[in-house]
Amino acid sequence: MEKETKGKFKTDIRGFDELFQEGVPEGNSILVEGGPGSGKTLFCLHLANNLCKKGKKVLYMSFEEREDRLRSHMKAFGWTPEVYERKGTLMLRRFNALDVARSVEALLSEAKRELLIDIQPVLIPKGFDPDIVCIDSLSSIASAFSGEEARFRVYMEQLFRNLEKNNTTSFLIRETCNPAHIGLNISDTGGAVSFLSDGIIVLYNIVYSNGTRARGIEVLKMRGEDIDRRIVEAKIVDKKGFVVYPDMQLEGEYKMT
Ligand SMILES: Nc1ncnc2c1ncn2[C@@H]1O[C@H](COP(=O)(O)OP(=O)(O)OP(=O)(O)O)[C@@H](O)[C@H]1O
Ligand SMILES: [Mg+2]
Repeated sequence: MEKETKGKFKTDIRGFDELFQEGVPEGNSILVEGGPGSGKTLFCLHLANNLCKKGKKVLYMSFEEREDRLRSHMKAFGWTPEVYERKGTLMLRRFNALDVARSVEALLSEAKRELLIDIQPVLIPKGFDPDIVCIDSLSSIASAFSGEEARFRVYMEQLFRNLEKNNTTSFLIRETCNPAHIGLNISDTGGAVSFLSDGIIVLYNIVYSNGTRARGIEVLKMRGEDIDRRIVEAKIVDKKGFVVYPDMQLEGEYKMT
């Protein structure tokens, strides 16, 4: 493992750290964007595993897949979520987005002062102080707030403020239906949050003109860090997980989907 600069950390995802001058700044809120099946969940599970391995405390909040499914995805790659869960450094937790939306509504009508609600009881489990939080996904949360964009926004602002206060680094998954939507402010896909984020990592589904499919990855933005802004190839490899090839820039004719 390479030596780390203070206040920045390596992900230990093969090839990925080479896209950074020093590492991921601690405390950043980072969007992980991409289309369906582009590898967002797996990328974050791989991160969670690697960071637990280094002794960090990780909370993986899933609004989509069940905990046992996440655990079995991890085990399929030879990772050991149960070891970290027993040690108390990993928490995989599934939440129901509709419950969250409902309790935010209840809190808001009780408080009547929208900016002062404390989202702690709604989201981060009490007594678990994570260094890293992954949220899978903002898109699921946003859809539970459907028609209540303003409420979703208040909720997101509270969430970001809470993460910031605790210097928690967060990886927030956002599904984009179209590469042109990446980093943009699109309602109902959690778009209201892109201006709040410190970083954006994008995963692409690529189709070459000969019909071959590939995966691409890019660090589009990272406050406080010098990044290599190129779209490079990535693969999901059996028993290894996410592998990034920083020297393999996309070439020839291709489409991003
Ligand atoms: N052992 C493996 N070897 C190669 N590829 C794999 C392996 N296991 C899973 N995959 C691939 O990983 C991808 C799963 O990605 P993942 O579920 O992380 O995507 P996602 O972006 O979270 O999708 P969604 O938008 O549906 O949530 C699948 O396309 C699957 O083909
Ligand atoms: Mg997913």
